[in-house]
Amino acid sequence: MKFDELLPVIINDNQLHTRWLNTLSLMENTGARKISACEDTETVTYIILKHAAEEHRHAFYLKKQIEKIDKTACPTYSSPYLLAPASSRHYLNQLDVDVCRYLKKELGLKGSELRFAAYLLVTYAIEVRADELYPIYQEALDNASSKVNVKSIILEEEGHLEEMIKQLQSFAPDWQLHADKAVEMESGLFKEWLRHLSKEITTKKAS
Ligand SMILES: [Fe+2]
Ligand SMILES: [Fe+2]
Repeated sequence: MKFDELLPVIINDNQLHTRWLNTLSLMENTGARKISACEDTETVTYIILKHAAEEHRHAFYLKKQIEKIDKTACPTYSSPYLLAPASSRHYLNQLDVDVCRYLKKELGLKGSELRFAAYLLVTYAIEVRADELYPIYQEALDNASSKVNVKSIILEEEGHLEEMIKQLQSFAPDWQLHADKAVEMESGLFKEWLRHLSKEITTKKAS
């Protein structure tokens, strides 16, 4: 099933929808913690602090949306409260590993330089994905007249992509080349995640 076909199925089933929101919340939280982990205690900037704060807010905001459907659903990020839990946990961590491997091999980076460059590329690829994913989700929510909404996340994610491009421009003149590589790696992992998601939902619907 394609992503835009999967969404109405998820939204129309409260149990699936709460787990979907919780899964997105987990992924936002993973992203937020990764940004915080890359922060240099001395050279951290306004833009990085703002970004980390907003990603943490997204994780909390998505968690709060669950209450609109079922107040007691998904209290934690334990696997029974997630969709495609293994793949959802794997996605961002693997992207980080792949990007670090690329940066070490292609640019010979290490230490804090490697950490910062990986933050730039991983986050760029995720922002490209977020700018595509959230508007499609919001449209599906509107079509279903759902009380859940992610408009405030969409607004902030648009700002993040611009901020990442600015940071990448001052990082390397040929930033687009490396950013495209990161997007390519992310696309493979996203497809894999979608395949697991689709399989889980199709199996649940058939039982
Ligand atoms: Fe986010
Ligand atoms: Fe973001």
